[in-house]
Amino acid sequence: MSVASFLEPLPVVLAPMEDVTDAPFRRICRSLGASLCVTEFIAAEQVIARSKLAVRRSTLAVDDQPTAIQIYGGDPELLLTAARIAETLGPAFIDINCGCWIPAIAKRGAGAGWLRDPNAMVEMARRISAAVSLPITVKTRIGWGPESHMPIVDLARRLEDVGIQALTIHCRTAAMGHTGAADWSWARRAREVVSIPVIVNGDIRTAADVVRAFAETGCAAVMIGRAAIDHPWIFREARAALAGQPIVPPTDAERRAVYRAMVEANAVARPEHVGVAMTRRHLKVLGPLLSQLRPELLRSPSLAETVAVLDFEPTN
Ligand SMILES: Cc1cc2nc3c(=O)[nH]c(=O)nc-3n(C[C@H](O)[C@H](O)[C@H](O)COP(=O)(O)O)c2cc1C
Repeated sequence: MSVASFLEPLPVVLAPMEDVTDAPFRRICRSLGASLCVTEFIAAEQVIARSKLAVRRSTLAVDDQPTAIQIYGGDPELLLTAARIAETLGPAFIDINCGCWIPAIAKRGAGAGWLRDPNAMVEMARRISAAVSLPITVKTRIGWGPESHMPIVDLARRLEDVGIQALTIHCRTAAMGHTGAADWSWARRAREVVSIPVIVNGDIRTAADVVRAFAETGCAAVMIGRAAIDHPWIFREARAALAGQPIVPPTDAERRAVYRAMVEANAVARPEHVGVAMTRRHLKVLGPLLSQLRPELLRSPSLAETVAVLDFEPTN
């Protein structure tokens, strides 16, 4: 099955984010309209060792579809072995992370480190595409930086030639990390030279941005990362905006329900206090309720106390 078959018209995709896009969060985003999800990245070595972390990140429930498993690594041989294992785990496809800028990862040739040697990246992609039956996709950046002309356009063409079935472009250089503005024009330029789906990513923060990103790039899909952490309703709002319908903001009851669903799922998936603590990363989903609920939620180490705070509504 091709990647395009997972992409409905104008799809809005949840970006892979370590410690964020785990199964509970994917479920929330999908229920709010995300068309496709990607797991947190998983080191090839960990996939091969079937480490606890790798098993947690790569286990997909039957209703967790379509979801791609994302792997990373600097050694093509290990990536290939990891991809073969990942394909047995039932993902929609396998995505190779060639965009992580974090020095500990990029310096050893993994993630965005591949952008320092595009020939090696293309050869790695060729080997893995040839050896694995599921579609292989790549998520990368526009270049290592600060090139005057970014390699992404040529890379897109070459990756398509070796069998990569979709390309996500985070429209920053590796050197930029998360600073500076994403330049979506590179996704448009890359899209113009290939026929595989190109997914534009970077700084898509509102439903209006989604509409603009589609219009400005002509890409097959847009991918949303950080904006979904605090406001997973962005998927629902984007769908409404794309359909020309009014945007309905979440009600307070929905905000409480989403936080509750996340904390309940996280408390089961991990030691309870860890699940409760990590859900606080999403405190801002509470929106206008945050100032009222935050102090109590920060003081609530257990699931029962957290739920009690969420359930309490002052009568006057
Ligand atoms: C907390 C965090 C974790 C991330 N983890 C990953 C990851 O595991 N794999 C990946 O390809 N990108 C990862 N990214 C990058 C995002 O997928 C995305 O490319 C980037 O945040 C830009 O999109 P945005 O402006 O919509 O956030 C991460 C970003 C953040 C903020």
